[in-house]
Amino acid sequence: MTILGIDIGGSGVKGAPVDTVRGELLDERFRVPTPQPADVDSVMDAVAEVATKFDGYDSVGITFPGVVVDGVTRTAANVHKSWIDAPAARLFAERLGKPVTLLNDADAAGAAEVAFGAGRDQSGLIMMVTLGTGIGTALFMDGVLLPNTELGHLEIDGKDAELLASDRVREADDLSWEKYAHRVSRYLSHVEMLLSPRLFIIGGGVSKKADKYFPLLQIRTPVVAATLLNNAGIIGAAVSAEQAAAGPGGQHPGAIPVHAGS
Ligand code: BGC
Repeated sequence: MTILGIDIGGSGVKGAPVDTVRGELLDERFRVPTPQPADVDSVMDAVAEVATKFDGYDSVGITFPGVVVDGVTRTAANVHKSWIDAPAARLFAERLGKPVTLLNDADAAGAAEVAFGAGRDQSGLIMMVTLGTGIGTALFMDGVLLPNTELGHLEIDGKDAELLASDRVREADDLSWEKYAHRVSRYLSHVEMLLSPRLFIIGGGVSKKADKYFPLLQIRTPVVAATLLNNAGIIGAAVSAEQAAAGPGGQHPGAIPVHAGS
């Protein structure tokens, strides 16, 4: 079975067929800019444009930058409000004519890191944190995902954490690496106090620049950079779609397979 993974990000919609056994892309990925405003209809068009570049796939895994419960998108912090309560998995399945599994972007990236990357063979509680347009989080206990955690919206010093420490804010405010490391430390130490994870895996755009600010982080929990970088969302979405296709026993929590027309 061939599975297409598609990642809806703040600046781009990217996709490729995925080897779900090795956790690798089977073809060069194709990217289109995320439409602005990122409303349901225009993002559907962008996803369909990416999907038409590939053929011969059986099902599709798609990431979404918000809460997804039973294929319905519940929040829209960094996309258009038309996504709130949209039956998105069904709409994608009808548009693409294939079964679709839809899940939160950080959950997908974390699933890929846990299966193939920085979180492989790690037991206990580990947390994926994506620092990009927003802050995405995913929690795994002994490799099992607790979906839709949304800890990027914790309140820190009276502010939504993603307005303090996302990569978008670092760029917009032209923060030095020292200042940014201080903010990320402030955020991670708050999470550390609440949850005591064994490991933080940092992904998102800024993970490529880990050497610039990781040495400046002041927290007790070990921190590692995501290893799958830009492809974690695509790979995690495809792995989740495969688990969904395997049926209830192998189904990814929080994501449902939706068959076209159903
Ligand atoms: C959203 C999360 C998402 C994160 C990264 C946040 O604003 O609430 O659901 O995972 O951004 O895209």
